[in-house]
Formats: sequence, structure tokens, C-alpha cells
Amino acid sequence: MERNGKILVVDDDPLILKSLAELLRLEGYDVATASNGREALERLRSFAADLVLTDVNMPELDGLGLLVKLRERDPDLPVIMITGFGTIENAVQAIKNGAHHYVTKPLKDDEIKIIIRRTFAQKQMDAERYHLRRENEHLRRRLTGRYACDNIIGRDPKMQQIFDTVETVANTRATVLIAGESGTGKTMIARAIHYNSKRVEKPFVEVNCGALPETLLESELFGHTRGAFTGAYKDKVGKFQLANGGTVFLDEIGNASPAFQVKLLRVLQDREFERIGQHETIQIDVRIVLATHMDLASAVKRGEFREDLFYRINVVTIDLPPLRDRIGDLDLLAHRFLEKYAAENEKPLVGISEPALERMRAYRWPGNVRELENVVERAVVLTKNEEIKEDDLPPSLFEIDDPVLEPDDEILPLKDALAKPEKQIIERALRANKWNRQKTAAALKVNRTTLFNKIKKYGLLTD
Ligand SMILES: Nc1ncnc2c1ncn2[C@@H]1O[C@H](COP(=O)(O)OP(=O)(O)OP(=O)(O)O)[C@@H](O)[C@H]1O
Ligand SMILES: [Mg+2]
Repeated sequence: MERNGKILVVDDDPLILKSLAELLRLEGYDVATASNGREALERLRSFAADLVLTDVNMPELDGLGLLVKLRERDPDLPVIMITGFGTIENAVQAIKNGAHHYVTKPLKDDEIKIIIRRTFAQKQMDAERYHLRRENEHLRRRLTGRYACDNIIGRDPKMQQIFDTVETVANTRATVLIAGESGTGKTMIARAIHYNSKRVEKPFVEVNCGALPETLLESELFGHTRGAFTGAYKDKVGKFQLANGGTVFLDEIGNASPAFQVKLLRVLQDREFERIGQHETIQIDVRIVLATHMDLASAVKRGEFREDLFYRINVVTIDLPPLRDRIGDLDLLAHRFLEKYAAENEKPLVGISEPALERMRAYRWPGNVRELENVVERAVVLTKNEEIKEDDLPPSLFEIDDPVLEPDDEILPLKDALAKPEKQIIERALRANKWNRQKTAAALKVNRTTLFNKIKKYGLLTD
């Protein structure tokens, strides 16, 4: 049996000290010695003992005094007292002071061995129990976050990195800006941040800044007093106040009016505001998460979004990639939605055919994950097959949806102008073939070198 515990033996009787040290070394322990309490404390500076075996009656600092000092430093360090024959009071006192065990003189080798073994075993069990408790806590946290995080599919490295960011920022109050095309999962990530944070017991309040006219949006968020404006018949508590202690999610922040932007800036800076029609300032503690489908940096350049507000909200930014840029996740997502809607509609569907999947991978998905979800739901409802086939997919997936020419494209030399559709065609073929170059080259009937050169030229390398 392997033992690798470190034991400090303390006794003023050099003979006992020597024989104990020998006995324990033979048992396989790493042993250090000291001849009184004061020496023991000194020795412990360089010797990280897992257990201390100490005599009671010693000069300078006795066993009970040592015990008190040890308890102050490390309440979990096991201490075993050696008490003289018949000094049972000492033993009782020692246990009261937190000694794990006591052995009485004259010392019996077997008794000492067994007590030390047991003490180590107990220590090990405590450590395991502690570990288990930690693990359970962790699992429980993950479970509460489950609704939020485990349902979010993303094997793509870009998504994995986003999950990391979510975990890192969740328990801070940092403002988070989530940018991404529509249907990429912005709302889902905003919720995940809340549900993974300590604020989880407090409200998550969502407000769409693009959906309400300016005054309504303000009264929605800040609240108002009765009579503050026409139609304000009663006092209203704003969402910022309702969410106190929790999270406010401001969706489509790019659509907020300039006047509202100013007011929001103040909330972000000072976490305070007034109700409409009232002078009293209200202080709140909320984490603010914002989302936008716009490129706010260029909105700032165009003068449509306040620069100071942009810097305030651009603390932690999460850029959600469009589905077409993480097409490797499509199969997983499609199957998740298949399961969900098959169960909901009580249809015994077994899967999605490979041609249908290929078609889906080749599509540009302007509506991203939401569009995919809708396409799968529709297919599940309509299909008469036992797996989803190409003809269960909506016609939009078969249209050439890559816009070759935008109305405001400049007139270029033909060769340069042709580069754009060429890039799109290659990109689409690559997506359809899961970025497998051999298959893509075969589908396009070009050789692999040609394909590779074009991939390089158009910057289509994946990570
Ligand atoms: N990674 C994902 N894993 C699983 N489901 C997802 C994922 N991303 C999005 N969804 C699902 O797609 C739908 C759209 O997601 P969500 O509403 O979060 O997108 P959004 O970016 O907020 O859209 P919008 O711009 O319209 O507000 C939801 O039903 C959501 O459950
Ligand atoms: Mg949303």
C-alpha cells in the first residue's frame, strides 16, 4: 500500500521521537520531527505536514498551546495528541480544542499505525466529499443555465468562443453588445448571459427599441407620473426599475432616437434616471445587454448613432456569425429542430435525407437560424415521407439567391466584374460540400489546383 502523507512528530523525549519517526518512515510516510511546540511551528514553515502527532507535556510551547496555534492557521489539519498515562483530562481538553484523536502512553505501535491510517482515510473522504459538493454546485448552476446555454448549438470555433465570453462576462456588470444579422441568436445569447449570472433570481426584462415610438419607449423604460403627458392616466413604473437587481435587454438599439440615446447614456454612466413628469432621481442596479443587427460603427460614421454612446456600450461585444459562416453547425441545428417539431406534431420522422441537407447547406440563409427553424418546422408538418426530402423544402431554397449585381455596383472591367459571381459560385459549392475541396472541385468540374488558387484569391479559406 502506498502512503505518501507528510507527518510532523513533536515530542521532547528524544528516544520516543526517534522511535516514532522510524516507525512512521517504515510505514512509508514522509516524516519530520521537532522537540517542542515552538520548534514545531518553525518546522512547519518549510515542511507542509498533512498530519501532526504531538506530545502534550513539553517545554516552551506545550501540545495544547501548539494545537491552538495550528487550529488558527489551518482548521482542517489533523492533529493527534499523545497524552501521558492517566491524564484523561488533558485528552478531553485536546479533543475539545479540535484534536482529531489522542493516543495514551505507553505507545503501542499498532495503535498508532491504525489511528494515523484512519485519520488519513478520513481526510481523503472529506476531500472527496468537498469535491463532490463543489461538483454538484457546478452541475446545479449548469442546470439553471440549461434553459439558457445547453440549448444553444454551436460546435463552430466562433460559437465556442462566444460561449466562453458569455461565461466570463456573466458574473460581471459589464455592458454587453450583441451584434448579428436577424435570427442569429442574439436574444438567446442575451438570455444566456442573464441565466448564467448571479442575477438569475432577478428579472430579465426585454425592450425592443425599434418597435416603439420615442415617447412610449421612454415611458416604458423610465416610467411616468400620472398626467405627465396626454394619455398618462396613472403612475407607471418603468422597466429599468422593475428589473432592479436583474438584467435589461435593449434590442435593436441601432433604431433608438437621438433623444433616447442621450437618456440612455446617462443610465449607462450613472445608473440613474427620472420618471417622466417627476424630478426625483431613481438609482438602480441593472446589467444592460444590447443587441443590434446594424453595424453601429458605420452608423456612428454616418452620424446616425451617438459616438459617446457607442463607446459606452461597446465594452464587451459579441459578434454572432451568420449561419452561412458556420454552416458546419447546420446539420446539428436541423436535427435538433427536426426532433423538436416531430415531437410537437407527433410525427415519427427518422431523419433528413442527404440531398435535402446538401440543399440546405448550399443556401445563404438570410434569416439565419430562425429561418432554418421555420424551414424544418414547415417540412415536418407538410411531409408525407418518413424522412425530410428535398421536395419538403420551400421553393426559396431552390432559387438562386446570391445577388450577383446590386443596383449601386460600379461598372468595372468585365474581368473584375465577373470575379464577384465567381466567388459566390465557389463559396456556394464549398458550403454545399462542407468545405471538402475534392468534392467541390468535382462538382464545379475544375481541377483541385484551380480551385485552390481561387479559394486563395477570394479569401475563402476556412479556419
Ligand atoms: N445556436 C442556436 N442553437 C439553437 N437554437 C438557436 C440558436 N440560435 C438561434 N436559435 C433559435 O433561432 C431562433 C432565433 O433566435 P433569436 O431570437 O435569439 O435570434 P435574434 O438574433 O435575436 O433574432 P432577431 O434579430 O430577429 O431578434 C430562436 O427560436 C432560437 O431558439
Ligand atoms: Mg432577437
